[in-house]
Amino acid sequence: MQNITKTKISYLIEIPKIKDEGFLSFAEGDRSIPFDIKRIYYIYDVENNVIRGKHAHKKTRQVLFCVKGSVKVLLDNGDVREEIFLSEPNKGILLDRMMWHTMHEFSKDAVLLILASDYYEEKDYIRDYQE
Ligand code: TYD
Repeated sequence: MQNITKTKISYLIEIPKIKDEGFLSFAEGDRSIPFDIKRIYYIYDVENNVIRGKHAHKKTRQVLFCVKGSVKVLLDNGDVREEIFLSEPNKGILLDRMMWHTMHEFSKDAVLLILASDYYEEKDYIRDYQE
């Protein structure tokens, strides 16, 4: 797909940004998002010194958009690490299965929107890096 560009160990997904009295961006399951979207959640009002995440998912795939403000996402596939700065509402990062990740340096106004391929299930989480 044209709207997907490779990063070091993941993919950046660019969705449309329609200018008309402000901006409108949209994401569609199995189209711009490479899976059927079963769940969305968002993270906000996070203090700047907080580090979230610190886990991987066995099965769930996700795409993260920082729809307001900015945040840094650290990805680690077990061999290689990559830090991605998210600050544009129409550019998201694919968080594939088995990708260890942390989110840090949330700006005060940051809203991180996550589209997920599966419902929430604690047993899908790997919270031990060694594992
Ligand atoms: P978690 O995924 O650990 O957040 P983060 O990776 O951003 O630090 O989730 C935090 C809490 O929220 C945890 O108790 C599980 C709960 N939760 C749900 O109940 N449903 C969900 O869809 C998500 C993402 C989390």
